[in-house]
Amino acid sequence: MTDKKIIIIGGGVIGLGIGWQLAKAGAAVTIYERAEVGRAASWAAAGMLAPLAEAHSEEPELLKLGCESLDRYPQWTAELEADAEMSIGYRVEGTLIVGLEPDDTHQLRHIYEAQQHLRLDVNWLNGREARDLEAALSPRVTAAIHCASDYQVDNRRMVTALQRAYEGSGGVLHEKSGIERVVIKDGIANGVQAHGDFQEADIVILSAGCWSAQIAGIPDAILPPVRPVKGQMLALQMEEGIAISSVIRTVRARYPVPVYLVPRADGRLIVGATSEEMGFDTRLTVGGVFELLRGAWEAVPGVYELPILETWTGLRPGSRDNAPILGKTPIENLIYATGHYRNGILLTPITAYEIAKLILTGEISEIIAPFQLDRFLRQ
Ligand code: GLY
Repeated sequence: MTDKKIIIIGGGVIGLGIGWQLAKAGAAVTIYERAEVGRAASWAAAGMLAPLAEAHSEEPELLKLGCESLDRYPQWTAELEADAEMSIGYRVEGTLIVGLEPDDTHQLRHIYEAQQHLRLDVNWLNGREARDLEAALSPRVTAAIHCASDYQVDNRRMVTALQRAYEGSGGVLHEKSGIERVVIKDGIANGVQAHGDFQEADIVILSAGCWSAQIAGIPDAILPPVRPVKGQMLALQMEEGIAISSVIRTVRARYPVPVYLVPRADGRLIVGATSEEMGFDTRLTVGGVFELLRGAWEAVPGVYELPILETWTGLRPGSRDNAPILGKTPIENLIYATGHYRNGILLTPITAYEIAKLILTGEISEIIAPFQLDRFLRQ
């Protein structure tokens, strides 16, 4: 237990998750959220829990962090669902990465070899075997990798559950309340300026997603190097005949936009996502929607008939090396938990548990130690 006073800047899943864990441990936690709680990247995400499908052989530490966070999902889900008294739609049907052209198969083979090199639990399937798992796949699917342990969660339900669990544990939430600046004196963070008043804290946590580099009061040299990376998305309504249960991802050697299709228990089929360096531009474009629909239709032709329920865009918080920035900073009592880029939903449990532990014990765990800000300051 602790009697620390904590201020968290940013009320997405990361801020809420850390706040919930700390409030449960007795801390007096206040979250300042510039807009509506959980309505930025946390809401825009597809909820894929895919360390294997997103694994790159050159990012072994990130893969390890992702796998560890995935391992904690059953515990996280049980604890969160009990506290919030609602389901968060955690599903374990696995992921299929599919190729549609001979060139795609070469790329798939390359990914498969890298996954095998990393000793990941994946299987190579031919087109027929892939269609045996998901009948809606196109006859053009020539090969697939089955990542049986890459799962999904309904991220929007998780936002609602986290808000309930956080407030139910005594956490205070200020929405539409950006802070004016972090207050730092003699190298120590001791609160924030918000609504014109000084709000004191023992610890200030920055978890403001792609806005993290814009927080006033923090010296420029140690602001987290995080930028927005736009993703356009849409949701379709599945109908009989297109009942997909696995997450389906395409690799496309020839076209620029690989897509994923994520089926939800309520019949929504999420299709995503573009990846665009457009600053804070959140406009939906004809080209973006066209590429997503084309990619989805090529993999699963039956989507042609489905109604479109929703379109949206989100901004991923991408760091300079695309890995999150977690832990202490050169300013005492200022902690970062930001830059989760394409893996924010996957990395929420490990971030919440380990950052809460860091604050409660003062010790940084081995698993998050490689992700501290100092990796950028050394360069
Ligand atoms: N993790 C999927 C995406 O960022 O689009």
